[in-house]
Amino acid sequence: MTTQQTQPQIDAPAVVFPADFVWGAATSAYQIEGSTGADGRGTSIWDTFIKQPGRVLNGDDASVAIDHYNRYREDVKVMADLGLTAYRFSLSWPRIMPDGAGEVNQAGLDFYRRLTDELLEHGIDPWVTLYHWDLPQALEDLGGWPSRDTSKRFADFTACVHQALGDRVRNWSTVNEPWCAAFLGYASGEHAPGRRDPQAAVRAAHHLNLAHGLAVQALRAQGAGAQIGGSVNLYAITPAEDTPEDLDAARRIDGLQNRFFLDALLKGSYPEDVLEDLSKVAEIDFIQDGDMEIISTPFDTLMINYYSRFTVSGKPGGPASAAAAPTGAGSPWPGSEDVSFVNGGRPVTSMGWEIDDLGLLEVLERLHREYPAIPLVISENGAAFEDVVEEDGQVNDLERLAYIDAHLRTCHTAIEEGIPLKGYFAWSLMDNFEWAWGYGKRFGIVYVDYPTQRRTPKASAAWYADTIRRGGLRA
Ligand code: NOJ
Repeated sequence: MTTQQTQPQIDAPAVVFPADFVWGAATSAYQIEGSTGADGRGTSIWDTFIKQPGRVLNGDDASVAIDHYNRYREDVKVMADLGLTAYRFSLSWPRIMPDGAGEVNQAGLDFYRRLTDELLEHGIDPWVTLYHWDLPQALEDLGGWPSRDTSKRFADFTACVHQALGDRVRNWSTVNEPWCAAFLGYASGEHAPGRRDPQAAVRAAHHLNLAHGLAVQALRAQGAGAQIGGSVNLYAITPAEDTPEDLDAARRIDGLQNRFFLDALLKGSYPEDVLEDLSKVAEIDFIQDGDMEIISTPFDTLMINYYSRFTVSGKPGGPASAAAAPTGAGSPWPGSEDVSFVNGGRPVTSMGWEIDDLGLLEVLERLHREYPAIPLVISENGAAFEDVVEEDGQVNDLERLAYIDAHLRTCHTAIEEGIPLKGYFAWSLMDNFEWAWGYGKRFGIVYVDYPTQRRTPKASAAWYADTIRRGGLRA
């Protein structure tokens, strides 16, 4: 007699994700598109910034970047080959509204129509970010983010692009990493527009939050269809030692980096201690009646960009920052310039960022505990390493693969703990223009040979494709 034996399913993953888990990769317009002078696009603050000597490492510029504006079809094919179920990208505001307000450049909108159509034809869900740092220069000339009016112009821009693309795009997110846009742009000057003015930076942070809230309202006003995300870059933060100075440093950095944005968006208030710290360096006279209600307009998904942990010390004369800027910029921590960022003893990526997947779990657990209602998505996670192209043209980026693998395992643990984590976007789909670091840092799971613009999926991409196909990770 023969018995039918169940074959062991060797292809089945040991770490299984929910069937509707979103498997994505992310980019942003300025970092990949190039064609900065094409088809009526206006000037952005980054176009102006990169022309200033010493702002970007090696004087790299992004007028070609990875030529995605012309190669988007090829790039969507790459995504389809990976099996991505979603692609997160941003709209270039100056491509669509060259002056930031008023007249709309149809050629700019057409590009995003073509791109989203191409994605949909390949079964890839477009996730649109409305602002990823490329403010129209015309609006910076009128005051930029420190000016309240910029938030209103952003709401107009949002309404305009939703009208044009809302039939194709369901997932929208507002302002990518408002901390960076405010504090790297206006406090440390590491990013465009390169200002170093704590007062301006704090105002910018509030107006970026306001812009988020106004954009949520603009999207909601156009119908119930949009799924709306708010984006934050969160860090796990620990004091270097259990001393009052270090504990206070951790409180202050957590306050500015994490709680200032989370409390505003999800609780409708700024943390008192953070406002008190900031009031030592800035006049807090810009919060108008009704602002906090606008900022905390309910939205659907909290989009988390997670890369690393900060270990901080408040000891006077502590060591210099472990995560310094490349271009000699100032401090992005108004009022907390004295805090030092010390090495916590973990391995680092080529950005000098410590690798800490458990930090991600800490962040997710905290969100679930302190801001319980909102579903979560990891909208960016990934790492820069020194890639080596082998003789056969392949890039065996095992460190990046291990980084993503470890963080995905953490995501799975979070889901098992009951945390409503709905998806993961690797940063980045392809190597690209890494802001002040230019092309010197590669985050892509797809290698780009800049002189030829040839795209080659790295080992991490093949592994990610396999992970997506299996719906999970091997044991
Ligand atoms: C966050 C930003 O959103 C993205 O533009 C950047 O390239 C990555 N982090 C890596 O630094």
